Formats: sequence, C-alpha cells, structure tokens
Amino acid sequence: MATSLDHYAVVGHPISHSLSPQIHRQFAEQTKQALDYSAIELPEDGFRDGVRDLQQRGFRGLNVTLPFKREAWELCDRLSERARDAGAVNTLIFDDSGAVAGDNTDGIGLVRDLTTNLQLSLEARRILILGAGGAVRGVLGPLLEQSPRSITLANRTLAKAETMAVDFADHGRIEVRAFAELDDAPFDLIVNGTAAGIQGEVPPLPGTAIGSESVCYDMMYNVKRHTAFVDWALAQGAAQAHDGLGMLVEQAAAAFTLWRQVSPETTAVIHQLRQS
Ligand code: ATR
Repeated sequence: MATSLDHYAVVGHPISHSLSPQIHRQFAEQTKQALDYSAIELPEDGFRDGVRDLQQRGFRGLNVTLPFKREAWELCDRLSERARDAGAVNTLIFDDSGAVAGDNTDGIGLVRDLTTNLQLSLEARRILILGAGGAVRGVLGPLLEQSPRSITLANRTLAKAETMAVDFADHGRIEVRAFAELDDAPFDLIVNGTAAGIQGEVPPLPGTAIGSESVCYDMMYNVKRHTAFVDWALAQGAAQAHDGLGMLVEQAAAAFTLWRQVSPETTAVIHQLRQS
C-alpha cells in the first residue's frame, strides 16, 4: 500500500547551507512520521507569494529562516504569545481551513540546549546577552522566564538595546550597558546574539566580563570548527564555550512537535551532525 507523505520545508534566501532537512528527516525516521522535508529558496521579494504557493500545493507547514522571519510574522493569521513577543516567526503551521498560524521556537530551543543538553541552571544566574537584533529579540522572552538573577543587554548601537529593554519590560527587568561598561564582575552566562561572527569578528567585550566560572554560548554555529566567539571565550579562560548547533536542533524539535504532536529525541541528532 502506498503511503502518502505530508510535505514540510524550510524557506530562506539563501538556503543551500541549511541543516534543517537533515535534522527533520532524522526526526521523521526516528518517530516513524510519514513526511518529507526539503529546503526551498524563495526570491528576496517573493516571500508571501512563495508561501501561498507552497500552501496551495498542500504543504502542511514551513520553517522560516533569514531573511524572512519578520515577514512571516506579518503574514500569519494567528500568532503564539512567544511569537508575538519575538516579533518574528520561524515556524508556520497551515491548518485545514487555510489559516496560517505562526510560532517562534528559537527561544525555547536556546533554553532547552542550555538547560537540558548542557545541564545549566539559569535560575538566579547573572546573564549577559550581546546584540539587539532579531536573533536576540527571539530569545529574550524564554530566557526571562527562567528567573535569572539579572539580564544585561549590551549592543554596539545602544539605542537598539534600550528600545528592546522597554519592549520586554512586562516580562522582567533588562539592564542595558555599552560593551566598554561591562568591566566589573564576570557574568555566569554570556550569550552572543550578534552577527559579528559572520565576518569572523567578536563583539568588543572586555575580557574581565569572562571569569573562570563563566559559560559562553554563541547562537551561531559551525559544525566543522570553533566559531570566532567560542575560540575567543576559551582564550579568555571561560569554564565552557558552546556554539549554537544544539539550539538549532532544539528549535527544530520544537517545530516538529508543533506539527506532529510527537517529541523527537535530539541528542543523537546533535551528535550525528557534529560527526558528519
Ligand atoms: P539578526 O537578525 O541576526 O539579529 P540584525 O537584526 O541585523 O541581525 O542584528 C545584528 C546584531 O549584531 C546587532 O545587534 C548588531 O549591532 P548593531 O545593532 O550595533 O548594528 C550586531 N553586530 C553586527 N556586527 C557586529 C560587530 N562586528 N560587532 C558587534 N556587534 C555586531
């Protein structure tokens, strides 16, 4: 008997580098879900038409990556609370009535990687977040929910960090500082959410922000070598430094669960990607 497959994809521009098909295919195999998952590049000015076309072709849902997460947020008929806060959508769910629901699993993906995979408690910790762009906005809500002792936000353009702190004021207090002002006590956890790593750069953070107990986390990842931030953090004497591969797999797992109501196991998938 032929099995009909449900179709999913990740859409972005560019998309050829995406690991999402590899991740979701492993989830599908592991949970015995009859689905296929592809990577589809949409033209930079053709996101909305591209999504409608895929929906009409019977796709059940999409992951959305750069540069379309904001446009995805604008397109949705319904948004989860965390997607509303994030101002960005990375997961679209097409329901039978033709409506489009949007969610954002980036923040929960980061929190799960930190707390479940890396076994770090965020409660009562002093957390420093670097950057104030879309990537950081996507994770602030779920991080604040973990009841840290404090969250400090540092960004090259201070006004952007100040606006973000005001936007999240209902969720908890965020202290804003310039990079140069981060020279007092080391932080427990430092999360790099800047795009500096794309140019192989590291945000201009005083080395004193990192102590021998500090854990550093780069939301960017590189399966082949350390990211610039991971290398730099280790050279400063951080206790641990991790890249964002675990976050990538965890955000994918959360999206998979939204679509299929089954939670895939992630450890083996992270391990396999690291080896491949
Ligand atoms: P994303 O959606 O990936 O967050 P973005 O919204 O363009 O992309 O934000 C990029 C972030 O990386 C910003 O916080 C940016 O700082 P500015 O707000 O001052 O532009 C930060 N960033 C990019 N390159 C950087 C660099 N070389 N050093 C420090 N911060 C950098």
